Amino acid sequence: MSEAPAETTPAETAASETALPEETALLEIRGLQVAFGGFRALDGVDLTVGRGELRFLIGPNGAGKTTLIDVITGLTKPTAGTVRFEGRDLAGRREHEIVRLGVGRTFQTSVVFEELTVLENLDLAASFRRPLWSLLRRGRGVSEEVAAALETIGLTSLARSRAGVLSHGQRQWLEIGMLIVQRPRLLLLDEPVAGMASDERERTGELLTEIARDHTVIVVEHDMDFLRRYASQVTVLHEGKVLMEGSVDEVRADPHVQEIYLGRAREDAEDAVR
Ligand SMILES: Nc1ncnc2c1ncn2[C@@H]1O[C@H](COP(=O)(O)OP(=O)(O)O)[C@@H](O)[C@H]1O
Ligand SMILES: [Mg+2]
Repeated sequence: MSEAPAETTPAETAASETALPEETALLEIRGLQVAFGGFRALDGVDLTVGRGELRFLIGPNGAGKTTLIDVITGLTKPTAGTVRFEGRDLAGRREHEIVRLGVGRTFQTSVVFEELTVLENLDLAASFRRPLWSLLRRGRGVSEEVAAALETIGLTSLARSRAGVLSHGQRQWLEIGMLIVQRPRLLLLDEPVAGMASDERERTGELLTEIARDHTVIVVEHDMDFLRRYASQVTVLHEGKVLMEGSVDEVRADPHVQEIYLGRAREDAEDAVR
């Protein structure tokens, strides 16, 4: 069912470099398949994400959520299928190239420089897309976009602290800030609230909502309480396939989703009723 990755024609490249037609989805995935040996971690995934969406991607452990993000960002090569970002085929592109096209991600493990301050980490991340001459201005103060990012992630008061002293949650926010200053058009966040205390989760939910106002965001998360509070559109992945898509309520009400995903909770609920 999967088609061979199509080449991007010069006409398509020219089109996507000028204006993106309104009907072109930001991200369009078709027939995506990833095999590790004989095992299919992704098995024919179709996914379309429009500009400005905040899409939650859920599913039990091993469903293929991280693999999907790895393919979008060029870390893992698909065995079949296509990934198009703003109309461009991402097949065969390397990670840094995909970053340059406007796709940013966080990893489940932190990538901040502990010895540098919060501000320096952000400045460094921002410098990846600044012209070289602007690096000469470093040390002359905080750039507007870095100041704005500090504000967004709520770390202004810790700007001069070493990143090494941040709490787990603050570190995640710094990473999100480091993404934002690179001005991606698509942000992929893999379990941003994992291991966070409840007040940090709440602040992260608010942060996601704020970021989603001017970015397209895909968040991998499987905490149902978090979803109920912050998600609207949800895609459920199961055994390498999209099981369903819908609103949080639709997804939660779906018997199949309950079976594979909320099975434990439902059994508990049924036990309670008996
Ligand atoms: N590099 C790899 N080699 C072999 N199997 C892998 C590799 N990466 C992931 N897998 C397997 O693919 C499946 C999906 O993994 P993953 O995408 O990490 O799931 P999720 O993020 O939804 O928990 C799992 O069964 C996992 O063990
Ligand atoms: Mg994962």
